[in-house]
Amino acid sequence: MEIVIIGAGVIGLATAWRAAAGGARVTLVDPEPASGASSVAAGMLTPVSEVTYGEEPLLRLGLASRDRYGAFVAELEELTGLETGYRTDGILQVAFDSDDLKYLDDLRRFQETLGIPAEALTGRECRRLEPMLAPGVRGGLHAPEDGSVDPRRLTAALLSAAGRTGVRLVRRRATGIAVANDAATGARLDDGTVIPADRILLAAGSWSGDLEGLPPGTVPPVRPVKGQVIRLRTRTPFLGRATRGLVRGSSVYLVPRTDGEIVLGATQEELGFDMRVTAGGLWELLRDARELLPGITELEFAEVSAGLRPGSPDNAPVMGPSALPGLVVGTGHFRNGILLTPVSADILSAMLLGGSVPGVAVPFSPDRFSAEVH
Ligand code: GLY
Repeated sequence: MEIVIIGAGVIGLATAWRAAAGGARVTLVDPEPASGASSVAAGMLTPVSEVTYGEEPLLRLGLASRDRYGAFVAELEELTGLETGYRTDGILQVAFDSDDLKYLDDLRRFQETLGIPAEALTGRECRRLEPMLAPGVRGGLHAPEDGSVDPRRLTAALLSAAGRTGVRLVRRRATGIAVANDAATGARLDDGTVIPADRILLAAGSWSGDLEGLPPGTVPPVRPVKGQVIRLRTRTPFLGRATRGLVRGSSVYLVPRTDGEIVLGATQEELGFDMRVTAGGLWELLRDARELLPGITELEFAEVSAGLRPGSPDNAPVMGPSALPGLVVGTGHFRNGILLTPVSADILSAMLLGGSVPGVAVPFSPDRFSAEVH
């Protein structure tokens, strides 16, 4: 079985590793592996804290992925000797004013109807967990089973694992899909060559709709949603766990790493393929973060970056066989790409190797958009 995977972000890398481990010959095509949204992401593993009304199938997928994370990173770290920064110290959501607290209360009730326990905390209890929180923080929710991972370390480990498992990396841009007899037969590269394949996975994130040669109805409907992120550094303990805040209705989060990095994110902007970091975006992040954690202004500045999350029309992943035989789609992971990596890699590698679509993946099939794709 010859498999070509277009896109070496976190989903393409993890699927390549799993498919190669399953016995396929895998070629991964990307001019700059692990450089897109995966390298900007903060890495919160929080199906519970980010759950939204009407997204129950996504919640189930997120929970399935979170439950696989420990074993996934243990296998990866053992194979490569590289650490991923995986942490399971819970996630705290805090509210700045009474309207924000009302939103968290509604969220907790919704989580309860889904059978997911969420611990409601007073402001004082939040500060007991995180002493740097502002005295005015009104209350919060604790999701003890959530956690975080360092996406840059994770993708470095996946790149190493893929190499050790025999995945061939081609550092070129895929420009199209070669089609013969109404089936995908290979990936066309920017130098005109075609890599033949029995099956192709399209995992190019926001760029997944850009390939030539895709028949109508096959192009995954993804759009880029920009997120700006600030990386800070601290030498003294500042934050014990990933903390998300609602500040006058707008959301901000901070994800600490054991090496002193703190990732502060993220804006959500619908501006097409615009990768600029803007003064306004950074100002909003710092303004809201300072309301929750006034000491943030003392931290050392390290980096700013912007990434493009691949969003689908319903903001859920697009995973499964496409209308073109031989072409499987694995994109649209939007705000959840890092969280959904283990389960997506299992689902997509099984599909590429000829397995059936597991039940948890059925709601994310590309054909759910068949009435609206172009
Ligand atoms: N999951 C966090 C974000 O997309 O900003």
